[in-house]
Amino acid sequence: MSKLKAAVIGVGGISECHIKGYRQLKDDVEVYAFCDINPDRLKYMGDTFGIPEERRYLDKDEMLKAHPEIDICSVCTWNSAHAECTIAALNAGCHVICEKPMAMNGEEARAMKEAADRNGKLLMIGFVRRHGRDAKTLIDFVKGGFFGDMYYAKATYVRRNGAPGGWFGDKSRSGGGPVIDLGVHVIDLCKYIMGNHKPVSVYAATFDKIGDRRHLEESKAWVSTGRAKNDIFDVEDFATALIRFDNGAIISLETSFSLNTAEPRAEIEIYGDKGGAKLGDEVTMASDLCGHLVDLSFPSNKNFVFEESFDAEIKNFVDAVLGRAECLAPAADGVSLMDIIDAIYKSAATGSEVKI
Ligand SMILES: NC(=O)c1ccc[n+]([C@@H]2O[C@H](COP(=O)([O-])OP(=O)(O)OC[C@H]3O[C@@H](n4cnc5c(N)ncnc54)[C@H](O)[C@@H]3O)[C@@H](O)[C@H]2O)c1
Repeated sequence: MSKLKAAVIGVGGISECHIKGYRQLKDDVEVYAFCDINPDRLKYMGDTFGIPEERRYLDKDEMLKAHPEIDICSVCTWNSAHAECTIAALNAGCHVICEKPMAMNGEEARAMKEAADRNGKLLMIGFVRRHGRDAKTLIDFVKGGFFGDMYYAKATYVRRNGAPGGWFGDKSRSGGGPVIDLGVHVIDLCKYIMGNHKPVSVYAATFDKIGDRRHLEESKAWVSTGRAKNDIFDVEDFATALIRFDNGAIISLETSFSLNTAEPRAEIEIYGDKGGAKLGDEVTMASDLCGHLVDLSFPSNKNFVFEESFDAEIKNFVDAVLGRAECLAPAADGVSLMDIIDAIYKSAATGSEVKI
Protein backbone atom coordinates (compact mmCIF):
# COMPACT_ATOMS: atom_id res chain seq x y z
CA MET A 1 0.00 0.00 0.00
CA SER A 2 1.29 3.50 -0.82
CA LYS A 3 1.84 5.91 2.03
CA LEU A 4 -0.78 8.51 2.97
CA LYS A 5 0.26 11.95 1.71
CA ALA A 6 -0.17 14.54 4.47
CA ALA A 7 -0.60 18.28 4.02
CA VAL A 8 -0.49 20.88 6.78
CA ILE A 9 -2.46 24.14 6.49
CA GLY A 10 -1.06 26.74 8.91
CA VAL A 11 2.55 25.84 9.75
CA GLY A 12 2.86 27.87 12.95
CA GLY A 13 3.87 26.73 16.44
CA ILE A 14 1.55 23.77 17.03
CA SER A 15 1.92 22.39 13.51
CA GLU A 16 5.37 21.11 14.52
CA CYS A 17 3.67 18.65 16.90
CA HIS A 18 1.50 17.35 14.05
CA ILE A 19 4.47 17.08 11.68
CA LYS A 20 6.60 15.27 14.28
CA GLY A 21 3.65 12.95 14.92
CA TYR A 22 3.42 12.09 11.22
CA ARG A 23 7.17 11.57 11.01
CA GLN A 24 6.91 8.92 13.74
CA LEU A 25 4.66 6.98 11.34
CA LYS A 26 7.18 6.67 8.51
CA ASP A 27 5.73 3.42 7.16
CA ASP A 28 2.25 4.90 6.77
CA VAL A 29 2.65 8.64 6.13
CA GLU A 30 4.68 11.03 3.99
CA VAL A 31 4.71 14.69 5.09
CA TYR A 32 4.01 16.04 1.62
CA ALA A 33 2.88 19.68 1.34
CA PHE A 34 2.70 22.86 3.44
CA CYS A 35 0.49 25.94 3.21
CA ASP A 36 0.73 29.18 5.17
CA ILE A 37 -0.30 32.74 4.34
CA ASN A 38 2.94 33.95 5.98
CA PRO A 39 5.75 33.48 3.40
CA ASP A 40 8.56 33.72 5.98
CA ARG A 41 7.05 31.06 8.18
CA LEU A 42 6.32 28.88 5.13
CA LYS A 43 9.95 29.10 4.04
CA TYR A 44 11.28 28.38 7.54
CA MET A 45 9.05 25.34 8.00
CA GLY A 46 9.55 24.10 4.43
CA ASP A 47 13.32 24.29 4.86
CA THR A 48 13.23 22.74 8.34
CA PHE A 49 11.15 19.75 7.30
CA GLY A 50 12.50 19.30 3.76
CA ILE A 51 9.34 20.10 1.79
CA PRO A 52 10.28 20.88 -1.85
CA GLU A 53 9.45 24.41 -3.02
CA GLU A 54 6.89 23.16 -5.54
CA ARG A 55 4.84 21.77 -2.65
CA ARG A 56 4.81 24.97 -0.54
CA TYR A 57 1.74 27.16 -0.96
CA LEU A 58 0.47 30.52 0.27
CA ASP A 59 -3.10 29.59 -0.69
CA LYS A 60 -4.86 26.42 0.49
CA ASP A 61 -7.17 26.29 -2.56
CA GLU A 62 -4.21 26.35 -4.95
CA MET A 63 -2.49 23.59 -2.99
CA LEU A 64 -5.59 21.39 -2.85
CA LYS A 65 -6.30 21.92 -6.57
CA ALA A 66 -2.70 21.24 -7.66
CA HIS A 67 -2.37 18.09 -5.51
CA PRO A 68 -5.49 15.90 -5.58
CA GLU A 69 -3.18 13.10 -4.40
CA ILE A 70 -3.16 14.57 -0.85
CA ASP A 71 -4.96 12.07 1.44
CA ILE A 72 -4.91 13.66 4.87
CA CYS A 73 -4.67 17.20 6.16
CA SER A 74 -3.88 18.92 9.48
CA VAL A 75 -5.56 22.30 9.92
CA CYS A 76 -3.40 24.30 12.36
CA THR A 77 -4.33 27.88 11.48
CA TRP A 78 -5.63 30.45 13.91
CA ASN A 79 -9.21 29.75 14.93
CA SER A 80 -11.06 32.00 12.46
CA ALA A 81 -9.60 30.04 9.51
CA HIS A 82 -10.42 26.55 10.85
CA ALA A 83 -13.84 26.30 9.20
CA GLU A 84 -12.91 27.52 5.71
CA CYS A 85 -9.67 25.49 5.58
CA THR A 86 -11.28 22.33 6.95
CA ILE A 87 -14.26 22.51 4.61
CA ALA A 88 -11.98 23.15 1.61
CA ALA A 89 -9.81 20.14 2.50
CA LEU A 90 -12.83 17.88 3.05
CA ASN A 91 -14.35 19.00 -0.26
CA ALA A 92 -11.02 18.20 -1.94
CA GLY A 93 -11.33 14.63 -0.68
CA CYS A 94 -9.01 14.74 2.34
CA HIS A 95 -9.52 13.32 5.81
CA VAL A 96 -8.89 16.17 8.26
CA ILE A 97 -7.63 16.67 11.78
CA CYS A 98 -8.48 20.22 12.87
CA GLU A 99 -6.90 21.81 15.93
CA LYS A 100 -8.98 22.84 18.90
CA PRO A 101 -11.17 24.86 19.23
CA MET A 102 -13.04 23.27 16.33
CA ALA A 103 -14.26 26.67 15.11
CA MET A 104 -15.28 30.18 16.17
CA ASN A 105 -18.80 29.01 17.09
CA GLY A 106 -21.34 26.19 16.84
CA GLU A 107 -22.67 27.31 13.49
CA GLU A 108 -19.26 27.00 11.82
CA ALA A 109 -18.65 23.69 13.59
CA ARG A 110 -21.91 22.27 12.22
CA ALA A 111 -20.97 23.31 8.68
CA MET A 112 -17.63 21.51 9.08
CA LYS A 113 -19.26 18.31 10.32
CA GLU A 114 -21.80 18.51 7.51
CA ALA A 115 -18.95 18.79 4.96
CA ALA A 116 -17.28 15.70 6.44
CA ASP A 117 -20.53 13.72 6.34
CA ARG A 118 -21.34 14.86 2.79
CA ASN A 119 -17.89 13.87 1.52
CA GLY A 120 -17.73 10.64 3.51
CA LYS A 121 -14.43 11.73 5.13
CA LEU A 122 -13.15 11.64 8.69
CA LEU A 123 -13.05 14.92 10.60
CA MET A 124 -11.20 14.59 13.89
CA ILE A 125 -10.75 17.40 16.43
CA GLY A 126 -7.43 18.07 18.15
CA PHE A 127 -8.56 17.39 21.71
CA VAL A 128 -5.04 16.31 22.62
CA ARG A 129 -5.85 15.84 26.31
CA ARG A 130 -7.98 12.81 25.39
CA HIS A 131 -4.78 11.08 24.28
CA GLY A 132 -2.77 11.62 27.47
CA ARG A 133 -1.77 8.79 29.78
CA ASP A 134 -3.72 10.46 32.59
CA ALA A 135 -6.96 10.46 30.57
CA LYS A 136 -6.42 6.86 29.44
CA THR A 137 -5.85 5.81 33.05
CA LEU A 138 -9.05 7.49 34.19
CA ILE A 139 -11.05 5.93 31.38
CA ASP A 140 -9.83 2.51 32.63
CA PHE A 141 -11.13 3.42 36.09
CA VAL A 142 -14.45 4.59 34.63
CA LYS A 143 -14.80 1.28 32.78
CA GLY A 144 -13.88 -0.58 35.98
CA GLY A 145 -16.69 1.17 37.88
CA PHE A 146 -14.37 3.01 40.30
CA PHE A 147 -16.24 6.34 40.19
CA GLY A 148 -19.84 5.13 40.28
CA ASP A 149 -22.19 7.94 39.26
CA MET A 150 -20.02 10.94 38.26
CA TYR A 151 -22.02 14.04 39.18
CA TYR A 152 -19.52 16.88 39.60
CA ALA A 153 -16.24 17.99 38.03
CA LYS A 154 -13.92 20.96 38.30
CA ALA A 155 -12.21 22.07 35.11
CA THR A 156 -9.38 24.47 35.93
CA TYR A 157 -6.88 26.06 33.56
CA VAL A 158 -5.57 29.23 35.11
CA ARG A 159 -2.48 31.15 34.04
CA ARG A 160 -1.29 34.18 35.98
CA ASN A 161 0.65 35.75 33.08
CA GLY A 162 -0.26 33.57 30.15
CA ALA A 163 -1.78 35.55 27.28
CA PRO A 164 0.22 34.21 24.31
CA GLY A 165 0.04 37.43 22.26
CA GLY A 166 -0.27 37.44 18.46
CA TRP A 167 -3.74 36.49 17.23
CA PHE A 168 -4.74 34.86 20.56
CA GLY A 169 -5.90 38.20 22.00
CA ASP A 170 -7.57 39.39 18.78
CA LYS A 171 -11.20 38.34 19.04
CA SER A 172 -11.76 38.54 15.28
CA ARG A 173 -9.21 35.72 14.79
CA SER A 174 -9.48 33.80 18.09
CA GLY A 175 -13.19 34.06 18.91
CA GLY A 176 -12.31 34.84 22.54
CA GLY A 177 -9.72 34.47 25.28
CA PRO A 178 -9.01 31.70 27.81
CA VAL A 179 -12.50 30.19 27.46
CA ILE A 180 -12.05 29.22 23.82
CA ASP A 181 -8.27 28.67 24.06
CA LEU A 182 -7.70 26.90 27.41
CA GLY A 183 -11.20 26.14 28.68
CA VAL A 184 -11.92 23.86 25.72
CA HIS A 185 -9.13 21.49 26.84
CA VAL A 186 -10.36 21.00 30.39
CA ILE A 187 -14.10 21.16 29.71
CA ASP A 188 -13.70 18.54 26.99
CA LEU A 189 -11.54 16.32 29.19
CA CYS A 190 -14.10 16.32 32.03
CA LYS A 191 -17.00 15.81 29.62
CA TYR A 192 -15.19 12.95 27.86
CA ILE A 193 -14.28 11.13 31.07
CA MET A 194 -17.77 11.61 32.52
CA GLY A 195 -19.34 9.82 29.53
CA ASN A 196 -19.87 12.59 26.99
CA HIS A 197 -23.36 13.57 28.10
CA LYS A 198 -25.34 16.24 26.32
CA PRO A 199 -24.90 19.78 27.68
CA VAL A 200 -28.24 21.46 28.50
CA SER A 201 -27.47 24.82 30.12
CA VAL A 202 -24.71 27.21 31.15
CA TYR A 203 -24.36 30.04 33.64
CA ALA A 204 -21.15 32.00 33.17
CA ALA A 205 -19.28 35.23 33.75
CA THR A 206 -16.24 36.65 31.99
CA PHE A 207 -13.95 39.49 33.11
CA ASP A 208 -11.38 41.78 31.53
CA LYS A 209 -9.90 43.34 34.65
CA ILE A 210 -6.16 42.76 34.13
CA GLY A 211 -5.61 42.47 30.38
CA ASP A 212 -2.66 40.68 28.83
CA ARG A 213 0.11 41.85 31.21
CA ARG A 214 2.31 42.66 28.22
CA HIS A 215 4.55 44.77 30.51
CA LEU A 216 5.56 41.60 32.42
CA GLU A 217 7.96 39.26 30.67
CA GLU A 218 8.23 36.46 33.20
CA SER A 219 6.56 33.05 33.08
CA LYS A 220 4.73 33.23 29.77
CA ALA A 221 3.33 29.73 29.40
CA TRP A 222 2.85 29.69 25.62
CA VAL A 223 4.06 32.44 23.30
CA SER A 224 2.52 32.90 19.86
CA THR A 225 4.87 32.77 16.88
CA GLY A 226 3.26 36.05 15.74
CA ARG A 227 3.59 37.98 19.01
CA ALA A 228 4.29 41.72 18.59
CA LYS A 229 4.35 44.83 20.77
CA ASN A 230 1.20 46.30 19.23
CA ASP A 231 -0.94 43.13 19.44
CA ILE A 232 -4.67 43.65 19.86
CA PHE A 233 -6.10 42.37 23.16
CA ASP A 234 -9.89 42.59 23.17
CA VAL A 235 -10.80 39.23 24.79
CA GLU A 236 -11.64 38.20 28.36
CA ASP A 237 -8.75 37.55 30.77
CA PHE A 238 -10.73 35.34 33.22
CA ALA A 239 -13.94 33.32 33.13
CA THR A 240 -15.99 31.06 35.34
CA ALA A 241 -18.94 28.87 34.32
CA LEU A 242 -21.31 26.17 35.55
CA ILE A 243 -22.21 23.73 32.78
CA ARG A 244 -25.15 21.40 33.35
CA PHE A 245 -25.64 18.08 31.48
CA ASP A 246 -28.73 16.03 30.69
CA ASN A 247 -27.87 13.46 33.40
CA GLY A 248 -27.81 16.22 36.04
CA ALA A 249 -24.00 16.37 36.25
CA ILE A 250 -22.22 19.72 36.54
CA ILE A 251 -18.81 20.90 35.36
CA SER A 252 -17.46 24.01 37.09
CA LEU A 253 -14.94 25.96 34.98
CA GLU A 254 -12.25 28.45 35.97
CA THR A 255 -9.89 29.69 33.29
CA SER A 256 -7.61 32.70 32.82
CA PHE A 257 -4.81 34.24 30.83
CA SER A 258 -4.13 36.71 33.67
CA LEU A 259 -5.03 36.22 37.33
CA ASN A 260 -3.59 37.25 40.69
CA THR A 261 -2.92 33.71 41.83
CA ALA A 262 0.30 32.13 43.10
CA GLU A 263 -0.89 28.77 41.78
CA PRO A 264 -1.27 28.75 37.99
CA ARG A 265 -2.44 25.26 37.07
CA ALA A 266 -4.13 23.01 34.54
CA GLU A 267 -6.06 20.32 36.34
CA ILE A 268 -9.37 18.55 36.48
CA GLU A 269 -11.20 16.92 39.38
CA ILE A 270 -13.90 14.30 38.86
CA TYR A 271 -16.28 13.30 41.65
CA GLY A 272 -18.51 10.24 41.66
CA ASP A 273 -20.55 8.64 44.44
CA LYS A 274 -17.99 5.81 44.75
CA GLY A 275 -14.67 7.48 43.95
CA GLY A 276 -12.99 10.69 42.87
CA ALA A 277 -9.82 11.70 41.05
CA LYS A 278 -7.60 14.68 40.39
CA LEU A 279 -5.44 15.04 37.28
CA GLY A 280 -2.89 17.74 37.83
CA ASP A 281 0.86 17.51 38.29
CA GLU A 282 0.10 13.91 39.22
CA VAL A 283 -2.91 11.62 39.17
CA THR A 284 -4.46 10.93 42.58
CA MET A 285 -7.68 9.21 43.54
CA ALA A 286 -9.85 9.02 46.65
CA SER A 287 -12.54 6.65 47.87
CA ASP A 288 -13.63 4.66 50.90
CA LEU A 289 -12.65 1.03 51.14
CA CYS A 290 -13.41 -1.58 53.80
CA GLY A 291 -14.76 1.08 56.15
CA HIS A 292 -11.90 3.60 55.73
CA LEU A 293 -11.18 6.72 53.70
CA VAL A 294 -8.29 6.01 51.33
CA ASP A 295 -6.08 8.02 48.97
CA LEU A 296 -4.65 6.20 45.96
CA SER A 297 -1.59 7.06 43.92
CA PHE A 298 0.39 5.30 41.19
CA PRO A 299 3.95 3.99 41.44
CA SER A 300 4.48 4.62 37.69
CA ASN A 301 4.09 7.92 35.83
CA LYS A 302 0.52 8.49 34.67
CA ASN A 303 0.94 12.22 34.07
CA PHE A 304 0.12 14.10 30.87
CA VAL A 305 3.20 14.38 28.63
CA PHE A 306 2.75 16.97 25.88
CA GLU A 307 4.77 15.51 22.96
CA GLU A 308 3.82 11.92 23.72
CA SER A 309 0.12 12.87 23.72
CA PHE A 310 0.44 14.63 20.35
CA ASP A 311 2.15 11.56 18.89
CA ALA A 312 -0.71 9.43 20.24
CA GLU A 313 -3.29 11.85 18.79
CA ILE A 314 -1.75 11.82 15.31
CA LYS A 315 -1.39 8.03 15.45
CA ASN A 316 -5.07 7.72 16.37
CA PHE A 317 -5.99 9.97 13.40
CA VAL A 318 -3.90 7.92 10.95
CA ASP A 319 -5.09 4.60 12.40
CA ALA A 320 -8.70 5.78 12.14
CA VAL A 321 -8.18 6.81 8.48
CA LEU A 322 -6.67 3.38 7.77
CA GLY A 323 -9.56 1.61 9.53
CA ARG A 324 -7.35 0.25 12.31
CA ALA A 325 -8.85 2.18 15.22
CA GLU A 326 -11.87 4.17 16.28
CA CYS A 327 -11.37 7.95 16.17
CA LEU A 328 -11.21 9.13 19.80
CA ALA A 329 -12.29 12.73 19.06
CA PRO A 330 -14.98 12.83 16.36
CA ALA A 331 -16.46 16.01 14.89
CA ALA A 332 -19.75 15.58 16.76
CA ASP A 333 -17.89 16.10 20.05
CA GLY A 334 -16.31 19.27 18.67
CA VAL A 335 -19.77 20.61 17.73
CA SER A 336 -21.09 19.87 21.23
CA LEU A 337 -18.10 21.67 22.78
CA MET A 338 -18.65 24.71 20.56
CA ASP A 339 -22.28 24.84 21.73
CA ILE A 340 -20.95 25.06 25.29
CA ILE A 341 -18.49 27.82 24.35
CA ASP A 342 -21.26 29.80 22.60
CA ALA A 343 -23.46 29.44 25.69
CA ILE A 344 -20.64 30.59 28.02
CA TYR A 345 -20.14 33.80 26.05
CA LYS A 346 -23.89 34.38 25.70
CA SER A 347 -24.52 33.85 29.42
CA ALA A 348 -21.63 36.17 30.30
CA ALA A 349 -23.05 38.85 28.00
CA THR A 350 -26.64 38.57 29.26
CA GLY A 351 -26.05 37.71 32.93
CA SER A 352 -28.58 34.89 32.63
CA GLU A 353 -28.52 31.13 32.35
CA VAL A 354 -28.48 30.00 28.71
CA LYS A 355 -30.23 26.83 27.55
CA ILE A 356 -28.46 24.78 24.89
N1 LIG B 1 -3.71 21.32 21.16
C1 LIG B 1 -2.96 22.22 21.79
O1 LIG B 1 -2.46 21.98 22.90
C2 LIG B 1 -2.70 23.52 21.11
C3 LIG B 1 -1.62 24.32 21.52
C4 LIG B 1 -1.41 25.52 20.83
C5 LIG B 1 -2.27 25.91 19.81
N2 LIG B 1 -3.31 25.11 19.47
C6 LIG B 1 -4.24 25.52 18.39
O2 LIG B 1 -3.55 25.43 17.15
C7 LIG B 1 -3.96 26.48 16.27
C8 LIG B 1 -2.71 27.27 15.85
O3 LIG B 1 -2.08 27.79 16.99
P1 LIG B 1 -0.51 28.20 16.94
O4 LIG B 1 -0.10 28.45 18.34
O5 LIG B 1 0.22 27.22 16.13
O6 LIG B 1 -0.62 29.59 16.16
P2 LIG B 1 0.48 30.25 15.20
O7 LIG B 1 0.12 31.68 15.09
O8 LIG B 1 1.85 29.89 15.66
O9 LIG B 1 0.23 29.52 13.80
C9 LIG B 1 -0.91 29.73 13.03
C10 LIG B 1 -0.46 29.81 11.58
O10 LIG B 1 -1.61 29.77 10.74
C11 LIG B 1 -1.33 30.60 9.63
N3 LIG B 1 -2.61 30.90 8.95
C12 LIG B 1 -3.61 31.68 9.39
N4 LIG B 1 -4.64 31.67 8.50
C13 LIG B 1 -4.26 30.86 7.48
C14 LIG B 1 -4.90 30.41 6.28
N5 LIG B 1 -6.12 30.84 5.93
N6 LIG B 1 -4.20 29.58 5.46
C15 LIG B 1 -2.96 29.15 5.79
N7 LIG B 1 -2.32 29.53 6.93
C16 LIG B 1 -2.97 30.36 7.77
C17 LIG B 1 -0.60 31.79 10.22
O11 LIG B 1 0.12 32.53 9.26
C18 LIG B 1 0.30 31.11 11.26
O12 LIG B 1 1.57 30.80 10.72
C19 LIG B 1 -4.98 27.30 17.05
O13 LIG B 1 -6.27 26.89 16.70
C20 LIG B 1 -4.71 26.96 18.50
O14 LIG B 1 -5.85 27.03 19.32
C21 LIG B 1 -3.52 23.94 20.08
